Amino acid sequence: MGTIQIKTAIPGPKSKALAERRDHAVPRGLSHGTPVYVAKAENAWLEDVDGNRYVDFAGGIGCINVGHRREPVIAAIREQLERYLHTCVQVTPYESYVRLAERMNEVTPGKFPKKTLFVNSGAEAIENAIKIARAHTGRPGTIAFEDAFHGRTMMTLALTSKTHPYKAGFAPFPSDVYRIPYAYCYRCSYSLKYPSCDVFCARHLEDTFKRVVASEEVAAVIAEPVLGEGGFVVPPKEFFRILIDICHKKGVLFIADEVQSGFGRTGKLFASEHYGIEPDICVTAKSLGGGLPLAAVTGRAEIMDAPGSGGLGGTFAGNPLSCAAALAVLDLFERENLLVRANELGNRFQERAREWQERWPMIGDVRGLGGMQAIELVQSAEKREPAVEETKQIVQYCYEHGLILLSAGSYSNVIRVLVPLVASDAQMDEGLDVLEAALQAVCEKKAVVAQPV
Ligand SMILES: Cc1ncc(COP(=O)(O)O)c(C=O)c1O
Repeated sequence: MGTIQIKTAIPGPKSKALAERRDHAVPRGLSHGTPVYVAKAENAWLEDVDGNRYVDFAGGIGCINVGHRREPVIAAIREQLERYLHTCVQVTPYESYVRLAERMNEVTPGKFPKKTLFVNSGAEAIENAIKIARAHTGRPGTIAFEDAFHGRTMMTLALTSKTHPYKAGFAPFPSDVYRIPYAYCYRCSYSLKYPSCDVFCARHLEDTFKRVVASEEVAAVIAEPVLGEGGFVVPPKEFFRILIDICHKKGVLFIADEVQSGFGRTGKLFASEHYGIEPDICVTAKSLGGGLPLAAVTGRAEIMDAPGSGGLGGTFAGNPLSCAAALAVLDLFERENLLVRANELGNRFQERAREWQERWPMIGDVRGLGGMQAIELVQSAEKREPAVEETKQIVQYCYEHGLILLSAGSYSNVIRVLVPLVASDAQMDEGLDVLEAALQAVCEKKAVVAQPV
């Protein structure tokens, strides 16, 4: 018997009843990728309140790389539960915070002395990375990229690119943020082609310092090593090296936002490793806590020490349960072949997706790194107009047939895969079969409609 079991129309009656209560109690600004309410989750599957069972390709938006409720993570949390829940690290600190910082300093890219600060969320970590970069350089500015997503707090919204639904209506944002094109080769902002472009988008940073903002005014360039919400875009290998060289010549720091690309997702613990780069500051979150809220800012020791005593912190930041869970997550990465598995799952996806691309021209691009994989859907291969409605229909078909997955992209036309790295081949194939059926239903309906009479 497979993992997927669909017993009711989706959403089922219990999910529907909860949705009604939700409409009265919760603001509409909080959206849901699916209409099903979860009852339980294990490894790479989850079950809803109506008893329907799904393969999970979303992993709580990339937070469950080691799998839902992994026993060693649960055991570490349980052990901590028996001792204390919260004392606040700023009042009476605890050893697990220090031990986790030591381990983060070891595993993040770069063999220089490092220090790590823990906070609660990806956005909070990015906020702190910017504070630290400003304190170290004494400069106000940050350069971020088109198609970037860095969070929903005010500073991180300023850094985030996509307007709707994230930014529209929430201005004004903090100032001194400048935006330049990312290496999104499928939709190059300069209409150039790699490799003949000579990675112009990276070299153009020099020009930005002449025509947009003086480098002496810029504390940091911040980038995701693989775009997350922006559509799983993987830049050419030399992109970040060129950027970082320019940054360092000008005394500008490079911050890698590894919130979505980190913790094993791409087949390395950090996506930065694929490019051979050593960010001055590396930000992690999501899968770090194995399902509990935790984020880290790790950086060169002298940079991290720039803010004075009391300049960093937060009541719940680096709480003991999350630290215990993260230590267990790191142990799992050491003990199990999760990085190898990320590559295997990614290859399994790529093989199927390349076949689909040959069958259906709506699949404009297949791309990814390790287990961070996606397809971009377009109206036509030539003009590449985003297939937005069709993407929505595919996501809906999938959850109605037992697969939870998410879209992404500045144009909301990318289907992404964030499957827990513990998924079996059979579970991966079950999920891919549903996605294939969804593509067939949507692409072939479109082909029929599009044919001339
Ligand atoms: C690359 C990246 N940075 C930052 C964030 C914000 O993280 P959080 O939602 O934990 O605040 C996200 C969330 O999806 C992300 O993908």
